[in-house]
Amino acid sequence: MIYNIAIDGPAGAGKSTIAKKVAGELSCVYVDTGAMYRAMALYLLRRNVNRENPDEIGEACQGAEISIEYKNGEQIVLLNGENVNPFLRKEEVGNMASVSSANPRVREKLLDLQRKLAASMNVVMDGRDIGTTILPNAEVKIYLTASSFTRAKRRYLELQEKGLCCDLEEIRKDIEERDSRDMNREISPLKQAEDAVLVDSSEMTIEEVVKRILQIFHEKV
Ligand code: C5P
Repeated sequence: MIYNIAIDGPAGAGKSTIAKKVAGELSCVYVDTGAMYRAMALYLLRRNVNRENPDEIGEACQGAEISIEYKNGEQIVLLNGENVNPFLRKEEVGNMASVSSANPRVREKLLDLQRKLAASMNVVMDGRDIGTTILPNAEVKIYLTASSFTRAKRRYLELQEKGLCCDLEEIRKDIEERDSRDMNREISPLKQAEDAVLVDSSEMTIEEVVKRILQIFHEKV
């Protein structure tokens, strides 16, 4: 039997770190849907599409074909055949993704790809609307969150570790703006699915969160 684990939640809640570890423990595949929206955003940025113009975004995104490959367990995102992984984590790409992902035509282009991946293998898929829209029948649904202060602090420490200078308050503002865009958009807004289990990681270590999710998995599957 194929099973799917959906993990949704706001930016910086630790979804990708946790999802990767859970997938490792269960020997299944981690699918990062944020990276697909980021690849689409990269395409739009490269074409200088006006982020304030939804029609332009909707039209331009038709030229982007996104596909996924796995190499040594790592997800590679191909944008019209090019491996774009090295460009996806940039701040401007994340910000564009948070705007362009509100566009119905962008979401429509990625929906099939996400559903097909989940239908063909056991996956831990993370994103914003996996439990509510993409995989409403997922065997396990988790809504992973943390306070905006905790999320900003984690991001701050991450950047500091990389030797990058940053301002905690600015990061917090950025996170709250992104939350608000993701939660208040018309199509597939970020929200907890009715049957999702809420996990607040504010006071938890990564290991504790992974353990909790594995426990939920073993109770349900
Ligand atoms: O998770 P990540 O920060 O990589 O996602 C980038 C952006 O893509 C998010 O801010 C969100 O707006 C969008 N996204 C989405 N639906 C998903 C995954 C990501 O709208 N399933």
